Amino acid sequence: MDVKELLVKGLCSTPKYIDMSCRYDKQGSIYDDQCQDIEDFYHYKAEEAIMRCNAKDAALQLKTPLRLFDLGCGSTTKSQYLINELLANKVNVEYTPIDVSKDFLQHACETLKNIYGNRLKVDPIAGDFMNVIPQIGKYRGRKVLLWLSGLQCFPLDTQHQLLSKISESMEGDDSLLMTADITQDKAVIEKAYLDFDDSKPFAKLYTNGVHVANRELGGNIDLSQFILEGRHVEDKDVSRASYNQVWLRSLCNQSYYLEEVGKNVTFEEGEKLHLYSGNGISHKYTIPQLENALASVKLRVLKKWDNGNSVLLLSTRENEL
Ligand SMILES: C[S@@+](CC[C@H](N)C(=O)[O-])C[C@H]1O[C@@H](n2cnc3c(N)ncnc32)[C@H](O)[C@@H]1O
Repeated sequence: MDVKELLVKGLCSTPKYIDMSCRYDKQGSIYDDQCQDIEDFYHYKAEEAIMRCNAKDAALQLKTPLRLFDLGCGSTTKSQYLINELLANKVNVEYTPIDVSKDFLQHACETLKNIYGNRLKVDPIAGDFMNVIPQIGKYRGRKVLLWLSGLQCFPLDTQHQLLSKISESMEGDDSLLMTADITQDKAVIEKAYLDFDDSKPFAKLYTNGVHVANRELGGNIDLSQFILEGRHVEDKDVSRASYNQVWLRSLCNQSYYLEEVGKNVTFEEGEKLHLYSGNGISHKYTIPQLENALASVKLRVLKKWDNGNSVLLLSTRENEL
């Protein structure tokens, strides 16, 4: 489904929603990158630290030669720790950064060219995971799928679908190297994610999906007629995870015409426009929850590195008997 279809589907649903992936146009990716500077936003710092401190050890666990597929690569800043270690080990790395945000991917590739020149062969793919992951499965050499800060963004049912697709795309000694947020302290999470100060890139990132909707669908949804709200939901069930929910609450009865698709979207006073689909976003896991999610798609954890807020997991596909 392309961005336009996804937006129309969400805005015509009950309750109305804007899928998380719609916020990641070039501007959204810039806001996402800027979030790392927010003092209370532990997640980026923890993810950066887990890669900086453990990329060397992780690189040593990988069988070579390999092709590195970076799922939702963003700026590639954290991925570069692993690339650097592989290059330092004289590994011939072919790197495929993948992202739904085509413009930002192009920008990331230009940055990589400036940093690595001819030392790194870069072969990007712009597109949605659901379409791209099956293509990865067709690659016949050894694959390492890198998925940093990715799983947690999707609703729980989609997480399972994506992990399933990832597992199906792997064989032999292919591996998945992924990070996830393991923070369980509610106060820390609320301070990091649910402080909606307008001047912070976080509020701008959450609401960027509305700007994308206006641009793509020819609408003029007025953000000043909504208030941004959210909550953290704890769920310790081993087959689930804790998560956040963020929404815009309509301050009045209002209606907008979406010119590009010839549809009206109407909000009643107090109605919520969810800024995610399914159960929520920004999932937080216990280690057993992550192991269970991976085991449910036949992925076995070989090694894990943990810094209290983030975990880096190396998994491989279970051998079929
Ligand atoms: C939270 S950011 C993580 C970026 C980077 N991996 C990092 O750790 O800094 C999520 C990334 O996934 C991309 N993304 C989100 N949904 C996607 C989808 N359905 N298919 C492909 N990429 C997606 C976004 O554009 C964004 O760059």
